[in-house]
Amino acid sequence: MDGNGRWAKQRGLPRAAGHQRGVEAVRTATYAARDLGVKMLTLYAFSVENWQRPKTEVGALMGLLELYLKKELAAFVRDGVRLRTIGRTDELPAGVQKHLRMSIEETKHFTDYTLVLALNYGSRTEVVDAAHAYASAVIAGKEKTDDRSWATFNRYLNTSGLPDPDLIIRTSGEQRVSNFLLLQAAYAEFYFTPVLWPDFTKADLAAALADYAKRERRFGLTSDQVRPSANAATR
Ligand code: IPE
Ligand code: MG
Repeated sequence: MDGNGRWAKQRGLPRAAGHQRGVEAVRTATYAARDLGVKMLTLYAFSVENWQRPKTEVGALMGLLELYLKKELAAFVRDGVRLRTIGRTDELPAGVQKHLRMSIEETKHFTDYTLVLALNYGSRTEVVDAAHAYASAVIAGKEKTDDRSWATFNRYLNTSGLPDPDLIIRTSGEQRVSNFLLLQAAYAEFYFTPVLWPDFTKADLAAALADYAKRERRFGLTSDQVRPSANAATR
């Protein structure tokens, strides 16, 4: 979710106003994704790097986050939205942590649709944490030293139990990954749009999904292997 600041600047508003509209776009995207058949939506809401922004902006973002969680829980419960997080959430303000714990607990039994909030998330931090946890497990005798499988290591990432992303969308015209799900994105499709996050609508999401649907995902295989019938004529 990128472009809140520029959205505000274009209107001569403070950056916090852009973030406020960004929260509205979060609401829109959450339900748009579900209505369009998406089973899981991960939103990169706050990175480990974002702490370095001006104190007032970090404060505004944390305030908005707490307010959002407080307001949204009833809707999550009503609409069957399971909430999960990735990132070092134990470093977030106590109020935010409290609302996260409550929301996760009260929605954990829902299975149709999951909203994952990446909060104080960064891929490199995640890998360091995973390596640390994995090493500790080896020392404790809970993992074998010679098990070098991805399936095992994967369980130590923040995304443990979650599928890899199929499609990663970045708004605001930037074409970079910015420390987001680097390992999980090994075979993800990317979609870049100039639309600023506060302006991102259901139609924008539908356009991204339509683009994604046209792609052939090969996962290192050949076209013939992944779509034998469709390619039979050209062989
Ligand atoms: C994304 O918008 C919101 C968060 C990082 C929380 P930005 O704040 O990065 O907006 P720009 O890039 O300054 O326009
Ligand atoms: Mg930005």
